[in-house]
Amino acid sequence: MNEEEKNVLMDHEYDGIQEFDFQLPNWWLATFWGGIIFAVFYISYFIFMNGPSLKHEYYMEAKELRSIQKKYMAKLKDFKSNEFEKFRNDENMLLYGQAVYENNCQACHNQNAAGDIGPNLTDNHWMYFDGTSEELFKFIITGNPDAGMPAWGRNLSREELYAVSAFVESLKGFEHNDPPAKEPQGDEY
Ligand code: HEC
Repeated sequence: MNEEEKNVLMDHEYDGIQEFDFQLPNWWLATFWGGIIFAVFYISYFIFMNGPSLKHEYYMEAKELRSIQKKYMAKLKDFKSNEFEKFRNDENMLLYGQAVYENNCQACHNQNAAGDIGPNLTDNHWMYFDGTSEELFKFIITGNPDAGMPAWGRNLSREELYAVSAFVESLKGFEHNDPPAKEPQGDEY
């Protein structure tokens, strides 16, 4: 037993077992007191000072979500066939649509929309709509998130939605060799 240990040796003894009384390490004391101080502020804020309850936080998040949803649902009313024609008939807009497609859709729908995780978009078979430009545009906005098709109205601008719909339409009847086309899904129109 060295000098330091002698100084901190406590004077009780049980069955020959004795105990040192070293000072607690500072990191431990800091967490201990820090925890108590934090708890005082935490409890005061949430219980005595009207900090938001779980219910309140839920309502705030739901409200924010509703406003995002409202914004993208508004795009559903945007479809104007003459404007869509402009995108469909303009080489540059189709290239723009292709870029939007490659960045956002190709991962699931494959090159030239041959189909992979998502269906082939170049045949005459559709699962949720009748194949018109307007319905295509609207379906891309709402998607079908439960089945893995994101709601693109949330992330793409009006122009991007027009451009990508026009690009997808321009692929109608595309002859797929590599990658091969996925078998048709849905009803034929
Ligand atoms: C994360 C994967 C994924 C991405 C990314 C994705 N899709 Fe889809 N898409 C799907 C799946 C899966 C379906 C089929 C949904 C179902 O079975 O209900 C689908 C369905 C569709 C349909 C309907 C096809 C039909 O036969 O009715 C269209 C149109 C479509 N996607 C277009 C797009 C466009 C345009 C983009 C890019 C802006 C895109 N998708 C990005 C997975 C994806």
